[in-house]
Amino acid sequence: MEWGIFQIVNHGIPFHVITSLQKVGREFFELSQEEKELYAKPPDSKSIEGYGTKLQKEVEGKKAWVDHLFHKVWPPSAINYHFWPKNPPSYRDANEEYTKCLRGVADRLFSRLSLGLGLDEDELKKSVGGDELTYLLKINYYPPCPRPDLALGVVAHTDMSSITMLVPNEVQGLQVFRDDHWFDVKYIPNALVIHIGDQLEILSNGKYRSVLHRATVNKEMTRMSWPVFLEPPPELAIGPLSKLINEENPPKYKEKKYCDYVYCKLNKIPQ
Ligand code: OGA
Ligand code: NI
Repeated sequence: MEWGIFQIVNHGIPFHVITSLQKVGREFFELSQEEKELYAKPPDSKSIEGYGTKLQKEVEGKKAWVDHLFHKVWPPSAINYHFWPKNPPSYRDANEEYTKCLRGVADRLFSRLSLGLGLDEDELKKSVGGDELTYLLKINYYPPCPRPDLALGVVAHTDMSSITMLVPNEVQGLQVFRDDHWFDVKYIPNALVIHIGDQLEILSNGKYRSVLHRATVNKEMTRMSWPVFLEPPPELAIGPLSKLINEENPPKYKEKKYCDYVYCKLNKIPQ
């Protein structure tokens, strides 16, 4: 409620499952440019899936610089294996194993976050799409940067998702904003970093806060991270839950379809 972000340990995902996810992801990014380009996001594609580079113009005096790979990992009907690397050969197994574990943790999180709002256990998960909730994996690859003072990996933003579940590597870089300051998120081996995203802020009518965050780059070391964005189906309308609004607590957000929310945010149109 205060930070919009927290880390969880003792989540039950075995250490080797997380290490394998990191290993196969790193091996993919260490392939030749030609091989990575096989998975490039098609230029005319409406979907975000595929390999790409984000080189952003200066925002607040800093350029954004990151290579990434996006692909969906759940539900099976949403998966396009075309965007899953075939090299290293264990890429698919490692990602499937991680996703299976992550779904269990996500379900438990949604139930606790529901109870935290005074709702029934199953209410938040239902409100973000239930079994149609989409798990979109992004791998961020931030190469060492000779002038970290002039660059950021990802500029300040909030995630559009319901929640985001992130595994970092050991190179510190994630920062969150609160009370006019940027705070480093401490690296805890084997922990998952959970971000509250915009959709949960909206559903909770502002009780849960979508966290403003950014990623810095390192002078000597390659930083990587594996966020999974838990996204509602595009046509699902999301607005403050009726049980959470009354005369003293009027709705602070409009109800709109998730796809319309995304369109407005990406095109910088007021929500
Ligand atoms: C993102 C993001 C942070 C990180 O990709 O949305 O916030 O730690 N990444 O890499
Ligand atoms: Ni983010």
